Amino acid sequence: MEIAFRLNGEVQRANATPTTTLLDWLRETRGLCGTKEGCNEGDCGACTVMVSDADGARALNACILLLPQLAGKSVRTVEGISGPDGALHPVQQAMIDHHGSQCGFCTPGFVVSMATAHLNGATDHDTQLAGNLCRCTGYAPIVKAAQAAADAPVPAWMNEDTSAIVQAADGPFMPTSADAFAAWYIAHPKATVIAGATDVGLWVTKQFRDLGAIAFLGRCRDLATIEETKDGLKIGAMATMTDVYEAVKDSHPSYAEMIRRYGSVQVRNAATIGGNIANGSPIGDNPPALIAAGARLHLRRDDVRREMPIEDFFVEYGKQDRRPGEFVEAVTLPRDVPNLRCYKLSKRFDQDISAVCGGFNLGVEDGVIVSARIAFGGMAGTPMRAAHVEGALVGKAFTSDVIDAAAAEFERDFKPMSDMRASAEYRMRAAQNMLRRYHAQMTGAAVDILEVGP
Ligand SMILES: Cc1cc2nc3c(=O)[nH]c(=O)nc-3n(C[C@H](O)[C@H](O)[C@H](O)COP(=O)(O)OP(=O)(O)OC[C@H]3O[C@@H](n4cnc5c(N)ncnc54)[C@H](O)[C@@H]3O)c2cc1C
Ligand code: FES
Ligand code: FES
Repeated sequence: MEIAFRLNGEVQRANATPTTTLLDWLRETRGLCGTKEGCNEGDCGACTVMVSDADGARALNACILLLPQLAGKSVRTVEGISGPDGALHPVQQAMIDHHGSQCGFCTPGFVVSMATAHLNGATDHDTQLAGNLCRCTGYAPIVKAAQAAADAPVPAWMNEDTSAIVQAADGPFMPTSADAFAAWYIAHPKATVIAGATDVGLWVTKQFRDLGAIAFLGRCRDLATIEETKDGLKIGAMATMTDVYEAVKDSHPSYAEMIRRYGSVQVRNAATIGGNIANGSPIGDNPPALIAAGARLHLRRDDVRREMPIEDFFVEYGKQDRRPGEFVEAVTLPRDVPNLRCYKLSKRFDQDISAVCGGFNLGVEDGVIVSARIAFGGMAGTPMRAAHVEGALVGKAFTSDVIDAAAAEFERDFKPMSDMRASAEYRMRAAQNMLRRYHAQMTGAAVDILEVGP
């Protein structure tokens, strides 16, 4: 396979297998060892690189980035963050001035994240750096460095990366349209479909799986569109979580706030909404929110399309209602869901998978609950509605007594499991308390630690 992309300003033609990670390729074939390997699973940010195309620049984790995902794009590693004459980037100088590095292992990853945020004018430094772990310096000097560099002009060399390379790839199947993919997939129904590779990358780096025939969907621009339709916001399967956040932050603020805590900037820049649904994970963050909102899923098999309430897609653990050769094309999120609230409970605030994730959407008229959609991740083998809880609410007054009585119904809806994230008892209690939290929030109480403040 040959993949062409620009690396620190120079066009490269990489000859490698389609599952070679950028991290391995940089370190093993180019000797660019500034990009570090920490966890090799997207968690620590030591391998952060900047990837640019016509849509702009974003930070990504090189350890779970497969070379074909880079076709026609530009990559900047820490070696390319300083100027051609060795001049330091403002964030590098600020890291020195503010003592932002001790052992230095995390520093290249931080510098690339900071330089990318600087280029994009992003000043929410805590969020921008949540995917970079530092075990010895502490974050205060690093955030001070990011703040200090924020107003410095972007160095000229950082803006040279956007022109696309025409002859981008030769070898793996990399369709440029949904039509082309649909026609190929029906003939190769056992193929591995790769979207953002934030799951599949780990099959490679941790499980050493042979992926067989592979299709990379990254160049299907028509699968990444987000459009207003009469039914709501139709979000293409290849929209990344960063794209989804931007699209919903004003219209669906609670869902957006949950997305802000999904992985890290690097993960959200890669992970797609289609991948997060198609993988059928019982602890994916999108499904509970989408189920509660009443979203509809669009599937496509060759030229045949069907759609369903998204909850119907999740049949049982490891089994979804998806036929051979069929793929997730889009999901439609209803526009007007003012009562939607999404609560993510995880051991760490940032960059962590949920132990329990709840989506709530009650319709209340004249103090009476007239409709209820409540869905959970982390409580069963699939993302699932809490049917008995919903049934105990509809037709009743929206009071704390009714909420308490309905909370007991969780025992009928779910038999959660104990694992390293949480015990079954904890999950059950947390779900019940999320319902109480919803009531408190909708009746005006401050319920979020960020709202309660210091
Ligand atoms: C460090 C880290 C942090 C994470 N944090 C979170 C988190 O906070 N919350 C959370 O929910 N998840 C989290 N995840 C999990 C992961 O990001 C998601 O499951 C992700 O959405 C998968 O999307 P992807 O585009 O990367 O999919 P991929 O890895 O490319 O694919 C995942 C699966 O879906 C299939 N697939 C992808 N697209 C389609 C399609 N259009 N049609 C049919 N099948 C398809 C693939 O074949 C594969 O089986 C995290 C992962 C990592 C590595
Ligand atoms: S090595 Fe930890 S995120 Fe890549
Ligand atoms: S400086 Fe040592 S891990 Fe950050």
